[in-house]
Amino acid sequence: MYDAGKIITGIIIFLVLMTSPFWLNIASGKGSYKPEIKIATEEKQCVADTDYMKAAHMDLIYEWRDQVVRNEKRIYTSSNGKTYNMSLTKTCMNCHSNKSEFCDRCHSYVGVTPYCWDCHVEPKEVVQ
Ligand code: HEC
Ligand code: HEC
Ligand code: HEC
Repeated sequence: MYDAGKIITGIIIFLVLMTSPFWLNIASGKGSYKPEIKIATEEKQCVADTDYMKAAHMDLIYEWRDQVVRNEKRIYTSSNGKTYNMSLTKTCMNCHSNKSEFCDRCHSYVGVTPYCWDCHVEPKEVVQ
């Protein structure tokens, strides 16, 4: 017959190995590591709610692109009534001119590399 003890030991070893990245992260404190981003602008409010921007800035930016490129509409009105030119370089990067400490820091943490800068102008950053 099968040796139940060995099978169970095997399963336990397998589970520990499979989940080890998870345990190691907790042990090294990396589980709670978050990238540190810097807000460069004096402005207090983004073009939309901060929580919305955190989660869905890519949706908004694609929406802006479609409005400009397909509908020739360039003015965005935020929920508090402020208007913005729907432009990646002229608007987003005007306030978030520190791309490397802001956009890039989050993106390298999650492993996304938006290809936008192949065409769109990156802000010239002042090295501090
Ligand atoms: C008028 C200046 C201004 C413009 C324009 C602007 N932002 Fe922001 N953005 C801010 C400020 C200020 C904050 C921080 C708000 C806070 O702390 O509540 C912020 C927050 C954010 C955050 C959340 C960061 C975090 O705390 O996790 C993201 C993402 C973001 N902006 C992306 C964008 C994108 C993409 C655009 C263009 C569509 C844009 N912003 C345009 C000023 C701006
Ligand atoms: C708070 C962290 C954070 C900040 C700050 C941030 N992003 Fe992002 N961004 C993300 C995450 C997370 C994703 C990936 C979401 C996904 O894959 O579902 C993303 C995805 C994107 C995408 C879509 C990429 C793709 O391949 O689909 C674009 C475009 C983008 N971000 C633009 C920007 C720009 C421009 C800035 C700076 C003005 C910025 N982001 C700042 C977290 C951030
Ligand atoms: C192959 C070149 C190319 C790439 C790559 C590209 N774009 Fe564009 N984008 C354009 C062109 C051309 C326009 C039209 C410019 C205009 O009419 O002002 C445009 C317009 C836009 C606009 C509105 C106008 C403005 O000034 O920003 C937004 C927003 C935008 N793109 C976002 C993005 C984002 C986000 C990415 C990356 C995920 C991206 N684009 C990648 C070529 C490109």
